[in-house]
This record gives sequence, C-alpha cells and structure tokens, in this order.
Amino acid sequence: MRSHYCTEVSEKNIGEIVEVCGWCNNSRDHGGVIFIDLRDKSGLVQLVCDPVDSQEAHSVANKVRDEFVLKAKGKVRARGEGLENPNLKTGKIEIVVDKLIVENASEPVPFVIGDNSVGEDVRLKYRYLDLRNKKSYEIFKLRSKATIAARNLLDSREFLEVETPILTKSTPEGARDYLVPSRVHNGEFFALPQSPQLFKQLLMCSGFDRYFQIAKCFRDEDLRADRQPEFTQIDLEMSFCTQDDVIEVTEALIKEIFKACGHDVKTPFARLKYKDALETYGSDKPDLRYDLPLIDVIDIFAKSSNEIFSSIAKDKKNNRIKALKVPNGDNIFSKRQMKGFEDYVRKFGAAGLGYFQMKEDGLKGPLTKFFTQDDLDEIIKISDLKTGDVIFFGAGSKKIVLDYMGRFRIYLAELMEIIPKDRFEFLWVVDFEMFEVDGGDVKALHHPFTMPKDLNAPIDEMESIAYDIVLNGVELGGGSMRIHKPEIQQKVFKLLGISEEEANEKFEFLLDALKFGAPPHGGLAIGLDRLIMLLTNSSSIRDVIAFPKTQRAQCLLTNAPSSVDNTQLRDLGIRLREIKKV
Ligand code: AMO
Repeated sequence: MRSHYCTEVSEKNIGEIVEVCGWCNNSRDHGGVIFIDLRDKSGLVQLVCDPVDSQEAHSVANKVRDEFVLKAKGKVRARGEGLENPNLKTGKIEIVVDKLIVENASEPVPFVIGDNSVGEDVRLKYRYLDLRNKKSYEIFKLRSKATIAARNLLDSREFLEVETPILTKSTPEGARDYLVPSRVHNGEFFALPQSPQLFKQLLMCSGFDRYFQIAKCFRDEDLRADRQPEFTQIDLEMSFCTQDDVIEVTEALIKEIFKACGHDVKTPFARLKYKDALETYGSDKPDLRYDLPLIDVIDIFAKSSNEIFSSIAKDKKNNRIKALKVPNGDNIFSKRQMKGFEDYVRKFGAAGLGYFQMKEDGLKGPLTKFFTQDDLDEIIKISDLKTGDVIFFGAGSKKIVLDYMGRFRIYLAELMEIIPKDRFEFLWVVDFEMFEVDGGDVKALHHPFTMPKDLNAPIDEMESIAYDIVLNGVELGGGSMRIHKPEIQQKVFKLLGISEEEANEKFEFLLDALKFGAPPHGGLAIGLDRLIMLLTNSSSIRDVIAFPKTQRAQCLLTNAPSSVDNTQLRDLGIRLREIKKV
C-alpha cells in the first residue's frame, strides 16, 4: 500500500509523489492548513493538507483524530525557512497531500502513545497500544536480531534446534511448577517445564551431540524486576565436551549476538571461583564495572581488645570480618550519611557497621582504642589507605556478613555514581559448591544433575563443575557438566535426601537413560529476556517481553489467570475447595 516508510522519505525525494501509511500521531490546524504527524514503525513524517492543493484531502483531514489509520499520497517538498525540525529524521521535508484515505477510525485512546508517565497497569491492559511507540519497536527489533544471530551462530557450530515438550513432568530448577490438569486422566497433572533440562540431557543420550532451543520456561516463584513467571532461555547442550568447550561456545555466541546489536565484545571473559567471588565481592554475581573489593581483616581483629570482635575472629570457618575501603569517603559522606549506612546494613542482619577515617595523623574512629598502633598500621597497609579514605567493617557469621557487605558495596557504588553505564563487563563464576547446606537441609546449588568434582569430599565443601555467566552484576546464564553415570546420580539424589523410591517416581526415565550408554555431556542456558534488558538498558524485564505478566503474575491484557466454568472443572475432575484471594 505504500511507496516508502515514513522516515524513508527524505530530501532526495523532493518533487516526487510518495505514498505513506500509518497512524495519526497528532494533528494541528494552522490557519486553515492542517498538519498531521503520520507515524509508522520507522518514525514520523509531516503531512500538509492545504485546501489550496486539495480541497478533498483537506476535508478528510478535518475529521482525522489521534490514532486514526491513514494512507496519504502527495508530493514531497522542502519545509519553509525556519520551519525545519532538527529533532525529526524527516524534519527538513513534508508531504503535500493530494489524496488522504482514512483506513480506520480510532476512539480516543486511554493514554498518549509513548507517554511513560502513565501507570503501568493501564499500559499493560492496553499493551498493544503501549507497544505502538518507537522505543518498544526498537527493543523488539533488537530482540529479533539477537535471536536470529544466536540461531545462526549455533547452526554454524552444528547445534541442532529441537523443540522439547511444554506439557511434561516436573523439572526441578528450584521453583514451584505451573500445573495443567488432564481431562483424559482425571486427577493427574502435567507440569510446565521450568527448563528443558532433562529433555536436553536425553537428546544427548540419543546421540544428537549438540542441541539448542530458544525455549519457553515457566516458574511459579516470587517475581522481581528481572524475573517473570514465563520467560525465555537460549538453551544448549553438548556431548563429549569439557567445561571449557561450553564456555568457548557461549563466548562465541555472546560475541555474535552483541555484534548483531552493534557492540564489540572482547573474549575470553574473566573467570572467578565461586568462593573468591563471595569472599571478595560478597556476591556470586559481582558487578566488575567497579572495584571496591572486600578486604579480609579477621586476623587483625583477632588481636583487638574488643571482646565481640576477638570472639567472632576465633571461628574463622564460620565467621567473617570484612573491610570495605571507600577512597576519599571522608570528604564525600556527611555524618548523617554514615549513620544511614549502618541502618542500611542492619536491614540485612548486620549487628552494626564500624568505620575508621584516615586522617593526616593516622586512623581515627570510635573503634581505634581497641587496637595497638602496630595493628592500626597493618590495617592501613593491607588496605592501602590514603588521607581522606574511609574504611567500613562488618563482623559476624560468614553468610550474613558476606551478604550485607556485598549489598553495601553495590549501594555505595550507586550512591557515589561510579558505575560506568556504557560498559559490558562479563565474568564467568566457576567451581560452584555442589550443595547449599543449611543445618540438616541440603539443596543443590545448581540442580541435582550437576557433576560433582569429588563425590568423596565433605558435603559442605564439595565442589561441582558448574558455572554462571554474569554481566554487569546480573546472572545472565548458568550451566554445568552433567552426571552421566546412574550410580553417581543415585548417590547425589541420596545426599539431597531424595529417597530411591522418590527418585524412581520422579526421574526413572533419566536414570534409565543413563544406564543405556549416556555420553559425557554438559551445557548452559542464557536468560534471553535478561540479556535483552541489559542490551537495551531497560529497567524492567516487562519492557522486553511483548505480553508480560505483572509483578503479581497476572496478564492484565487478557485477564489471566481467570476462573473457568463448572462444566470445564467437572470434565477435569476438579472441585475447588476454597478460593484464596492473594
Ligand atoms: P537457571 O535456572 O540458572 O538454569 O536458568 C538459566 C537462566 O535463565 C534466566 N532465568 C530467568 N529469567 C527470567 N525470569 C525468571 N524467572 C528466570 N529464571 C531464570 C536467568 C538464568 O541465569 N537448566 C538450567 C541451565 C543448565 O544447566 O543448562 C537452568 O535453567 O538468566
């Protein structure tokens, strides 16, 4: 229907007749001449409907309102002196309309297209209108380019794209399942996959060698800014490979995706052991765009005359005393801010937050009296303190201290605005622990199919061949080498407190498959939505999903989930006990 998209019309077309289609972004009547900004996916172009040029087009334009769907034909001309719009790609020209057709009218829309100040609930209810703006279009254009680049790269590396079932059995990735009742088998349920994990492992048992899928995953879990109940992974698996092979392919994949989106990424990425990431940054997904490392001062505090510190320092296995140096902090922060920092870490379980200030004549602060001059000098030396620096301390149990000092590191970096916004800092976190042990409770840190390094190691020290890829402090993806021998899998289930009976009931198919010649294999999955979020600098995952759910896991557009009628429930053999309103 068109000869050009709106922004394709340029000074080169002056004097030519063009045909354009789109929506009325807005219209203005200036002394009898009507100006319409016509919008399509590419942007805006100005239409001029002057009764002197076409009485007919002008009378149609008179009826046009915002969001009417239009087709216009006319001659391109340069805008008059002083009437150019430098903010528009087509700001130097306009189309003098000869023929204007209203393809469809529009009722007044509930909000102005592209107005981000409108509440998200309204935008999600009318998501198709919300998506009408150029910014959204650019996000989805980039998303499309990224997935196509991923497909091409993986195809060139001989990965086979295979679809795995959506109606399936529970796959344990640590969240609750979405269940689908079966009509044919009353009382029985399918689960929607939390990931294609087990099926991709089975494909390796089938000898497919290399698999990938742009896979939909479903997890009923607490939602955050970077989590959705339904999300997409670039999921891959390979046979007869090592961790380094998976890492190499992933780096090539990331490089290709970023290239397609206009960014040059340098590989290989840095690697950090899980333990070191926790000890140095208080996080298993540290943001390395800035430094601010945590410094271990437990040995110095062990010598202090303060009872609390010295007793904490006695148990080096379970406790930590960590310092965080802020260069020039003494001149940056007010007294009130320093007090506020303590309130901040208390929210995450800190008993308090000590600090020293580095003055001209040495360390100052309420805690200095508990240390000898030698010990203070040692703190200055290991932290390389200069006049004006401040150093904060957290002391207590390992898990809590690392957690709040890690959060405090991020909090300070944001407060001091030292995080470069235009950089992509990738990191592999490797050598994860196999289990998360909390009292008697043992959970798989990655998932139960991850290969342990040494099955004979103590359970709270056992490492696994698992790795995460981190970008700018966000967990972008994760993977592992898998257990390919049934006896190891049985042992790991046992350590996880999964009985043989339960293992057979849930995973018999996997245990069987491992018995029939399963090759060594491993893989990884990248969160596609998170990747696009980072690539487009979006603050919410909802911005990069065409039809997202709210924070409360609802689709406001279709009003799902919703109740169903009784006949449908009866067919499924379901009677509702009570309706819980959350
Ligand atoms: P994992 O559970 O670490 O691994 O998931 C991989 C990546 O998927 C993304 N992700 C999410 N994105 C949006 N919303 C969510 N609710 C959500 N949950 C996870 C993250 C995460 O890093 N089967 C394994 C992979 C493997 O071992 O090969 C798995 O699913 O970016």
